[in-house]
Amino acid sequence: MNEPTVIDLFAGCGGMTVGFAQEGFAPVLAVEWDKYAAATYAANFGEEHVRAGDIADVKDEEIPQADLIIGGPPCQGFSNLGLKKLDDPRNQLWREYMRFILKAKPQVFVIENVDRFSKSPEFEMLRAEVEHGILRNYVISHGVLNAADYGVSQRRRRTIIIGSRVGKIELPAPTHAREPDPGSDLLPWRTVRDRIEGLPVRPDSTELPDSVTEFFGERMPGTFKNLDIHFRRDPRPLSLERYAYVPPGGGRFDVPTDLLPKCWREKATGTTDVMGRMRWDFPSHTIRTEFFKPEKGSYLHPQWIPESTQSDDSRWIKGDPKKSVNRVVTHFEASLIQDFPEDYLWVGSKVAIARQIGNAVPSGLARAIARQIRPFIN
Ligand SMILES: C[S@@+](CC[C@H](N)C(=O)[O-])C[C@H]1O[C@@H](n2cnc3c(N)ncnc32)[C@H](O)[C@@H]1O
Repeated sequence: MNEPTVIDLFAGCGGMTVGFAQEGFAPVLAVEWDKYAAATYAANFGEEHVRAGDIADVKDEEIPQADLIIGGPPCQGFSNLGLKKLDDPRNQLWREYMRFILKAKPQVFVIENVDRFSKSPEFEMLRAEVEHGILRNYVISHGVLNAADYGVSQRRRRTIIIGSRVGKIELPAPTHAREPDPGSDLLPWRTVRDRIEGLPVRPDSTELPDSVTEFFGERMPGTFKNLDIHFRRDPRPLSLERYAYVPPGGGRFDVPTDLLPKCWREKATGTTDVMGRMRWDFPSHTIRTEFFKPEKGSYLHPQWIPESTQSDDSRWIKGDPKKSVNRVVTHFEASLIQDFPEDYLWVGSKVAIARQIGNAVPSGLARAIARQIRPFIN
């Protein structure tokens, strides 16, 4: 077997592994404690090498040697959306990551994290270990990459760190740009249309199909794929009325004030992307774990056609309810924008699958990193 081997830590449902496997890396261990995410990973890449549990419980002697370690310690502790607490126990998990590096002795490791990771004390500690500590035989490159610059239909900015003991590996150069200069090799950004156009706009079901499969000795909902996870929600009439006013690229400020909940009426600025609508010919905003809630981001379906007759107050332009699609993207659509293959298998409840999708590294970004690293692996 000449394929380079990879360990995926905090593997989630395997978004990052999708990209590395597509570039010829063979997974030998994945560690993930969310049992449904671990099961989704197992359904797609095999159960034998999955450790469905806490990374701290993996004993040193259970860690195989591998050419590569990928994975990002969870980021809630530093994320813009979470509380910034330095003593948050989740921030210690990067030390587990280093234990794996010392044991598996990879030629290269890749850490993925929130865009502000390089401003965190954890990053400083990592850098100190690389400069004069236990990781001193590695050199690192780091920066914030936007998935849209690597052919993903989503603007998702993540810190990527590549550590190498086989020569410095620069971050991959973008392959796509918003408006490529004439004559450059760059392709234009891929769009929401590229991924979801043509899917049924009114899905038949509001539920996952009945299906159960055993993973790790436990029966779990799934596996589901493709249109199985293309189900709709049935919003209240008031919610539908609000969505109708939001044009592509718009958000809560396009909704007449008297239709807004009181808390938003009183908050005149900020959170501009909430209750936002995607644009067909642009990459989406970041898909997060609660993309099924319109009040959490820019998740409304991009199809919106204004009514020909305008309302009395021309500030508020309403979409034609027959020609517009007043719902958030489905799980299937979100998974495609997150760059999962159409036939990816999913395990868990609706909420569990949404969490897996929103947490993932889009495979196009992972692929670009894998392609950059591959020639360095001996
Ligand atoms: C950002 S997600 C990883 C996404 C993944 N790289 C992908 O591309 O799909 C981080 C994951 O770490 C897992 N996790 C958090 N703490 C853990 C621990 N102590 N042991 C194992 N997994 C853990 C979470 O359940 C979550 O799925």
